[in-house]
Amino acid sequence: MNPARGSLLGIEHLEAAEILRILKFARRMNPDKPRPLLKGKRVMLLFYEASTRTRSSFEIAAKSMGAHTVLIQSFGSSIEKGESLLDTGYTVRAVGADIIVIRHPNAGAPYTMSQHIDVPVINAGDGLHEHPSQSLLDAYTILRNKKTFKGLQVAIVGDIFHSRVARSACHLLSKFGVKIILCGPPELVPDIATTLAPGIRVTRHIDDALRGTDVIMLLRVQSERLSGLKLDLLEYITRYQMNPARLKMARKDAIVMHPGPIIRGLELTSEIADGAQARILEEVRNGVPTRMAILARAMGKMR
Ligand code: CP
Repeated sequence: MNPARGSLLGIEHLEAAEILRILKFARRMNPDKPRPLLKGKRVMLLFYEASTRTRSSFEIAAKSMGAHTVLIQSFGSSIEKGESLLDTGYTVRAVGADIIVIRHPNAGAPYTMSQHIDVPVINAGDGLHEHPSQSLLDAYTILRNKKTFKGLQVAIVGDIFHSRVARSACHLLSKFGVKIILCGPPELVPDIATTLAPGIRVTRHIDDALRGTDVIMLLRVQSERLSGLKLDLLEYITRYQMNPARLKMARKDAIVMHPGPIIRGLELTSEIADGAQARILEEVRNGVPTRMAILARAMGKMR
């Protein structure tokens, strides 16, 4: 079975024009002025991994468009009893799901679901693969702040290897010709990362990454994914932590982004997290209209 129309499984195969269509529609969405585009629809939120931002903003987005939402997490559901991914999918379809939003630790789980269940499937983050709604809300945030992708330089700093956010961001930004610099130690940013998408450069030096940069995307150093890596966190902090002195190396009007959750004292200092150039909470806010657009698209209502 092909994925149902309106599914969002990743950014890699989404055309630039479709990305712009979603972002344009998102600009018209406002959760404080509800529009009943999804009136009576049932949105199933299947979260096999922890989430605060993605889960809550999909729920608020769905409800502000008149949908009902049901949250199923691995803890406290029959997933705990060993029910398979597909049997869970068949079950939520049988109770009337119109859209399935899924976060899963395994890359490809949303794709597998979309091959067997005849409703739109939205990837809310799958393993090390993609996090498409995050990169769309990040693109929305960049455009609100910088107006255009033209001529932009974006530095992505941190655990790129384990980051589905970085993977989706690279796919998206490269479609618009953005200059992307990936920065971190080889354990977290292998040289092969340059093959992720066209126009990517890797550097080990933060000053090199920040020079002339318009947008700094910081990534969490994901301690839960670091088993087996001999990474000295103190050395990481010394070489890569974003602090006010380092921020001065970027363009004066550079913005600092982070998908969250942030770990103060590790990838950034509190002065940066709470500073005037941070757009971290703006990203969270922008997640709602962006996900409204994604859900409207899933139901063919993005007109
Ligand atoms: N950015 C992000 O995916 O955050 P959550 O894990 O809290 O959803």
